Amino acid sequence: MSISEDLLKREDLRSLLFRDTWQNLIPAVFRDVPTYYDKGNAIASLGHCSRWSNRFAVAIQRHLPRGARVLDVCSGTHDIPLRLFTNDPTLQVHTVDRSEHMTAEGQRRARERNLTIHAGVCDAHVLPFADNSFDAVTLQFASRHLEIIKAFKEIHRVLKPGGIFCHNDMLRPASKIVEIPYLAFLRFSVWFTAMLFGSSAESKKCVGYFANAIRHFYTPHELAVLLEGVGFTGIESCDFLTGVLTYHISRKPKI
Ligand SMILES: C[S@@+](CC[C@H](N)C(=O)[O-])C[C@H]1O[C@@H](n2cnc3c(N)ncnc32)[C@H](O)[C@@H]1O
Repeated sequence: MSISEDLLKREDLRSLLFRDTWQNLIPAVFRDVPTYYDKGNAIASLGHCSRWSNRFAVAIQRHLPRGARVLDVCSGTHDIPLRLFTNDPTLQVHTVDRSEHMTAEGQRRARERNLTIHAGVCDAHVLPFADNSFDAVTLQFASRHLEIIKAFKEIHRVLKPGGIFCHNDMLRPASKIVEIPYLAFLRFSVWFTAMLFGSSAESKKCVGYFANAIRHFYTPHELAVLLEGVGFTGIESCDFLTGVLTYHISRKPKI
C-alpha cells in the first residue's frame, strides 16, 4: 500500500514546522532531562506511562524468541530494554540514541542491574547497522521528534525478514473530545514540569512544542497506514483514550 498524499503532506508540514526544534532544541532538552525524565513522562501521560510501557513490553515479549537480537531506537535511559530483560535475560540488546546524557543514564541503570546493553550514540534516521540485522526493533516515546517515514524505512532495512517492529508513543487522539482537553492539559503540564524541575532556558523554549508536535502528529489509524506504506504487515495495535497512548506491533514480511 502506498502512503496517501494527505499523509505525505503532513510529513512535509511536520518537517517544516519542527525541523529547527528537532535539530537545535530537542538535544538541549535531553541534556537536561535524564534525572527527572520518568516523573515528567508520568505527568504528561496522565499517570499511565509506566503501566502502559509495561503492557507494551509484555506484548513485545509474546513475539520474541529467546536470545533474540533486539535494537531499541531512541533508547534514552533504556526503559524498554530494561523491561524486556526482566523476562528474558538471554536477549542481545543494542540501543541507539542521539543524546550522550540519556545514554549515560541508561548505561548506569543497566550496570546497576548487572546487564549488558550495547549502546551507540547516533541519529535515528541513519542506523549504523547492516541490512537484515535484528529480530526486533523497538521505538518508544520518540517518533514525534523524527521524520517518521525516513526513520521507519531505516528500521525496516535493519530488520530481518519476519522480524517485528514495535512502536509505542503518545499519538494524536482520534477523538476531538479527547484531543482538545488533552492538548490543553499537556501545554500546562509541560510548563509546570519545566518550572518544577528548573529546566534550562532552551528546554523552556520547547514548552509549546510538545503539544504542537502531537497536534500535527498521526492518529493510531494513520500511523498504521504509514507502517503499511513503508512495507510492514500484520499490524496489531492497542490504544488508550483513542490515542493518548498507543502501541503498534508490525512485521517485515518474510521473503
Ligand atoms: C522521550 S525520550 C524516549 C526515551 C526512551 N525511548 C523511553 O521510552 O524512555 C526521546 C529520546 O529520543 C532521542 N532522540 C530524539 N531525536 C533523535 C534522533 N534524531 N536520533 C536519535 N535519538 C533521538 C532523545 O535523545 C531522547 O533520548
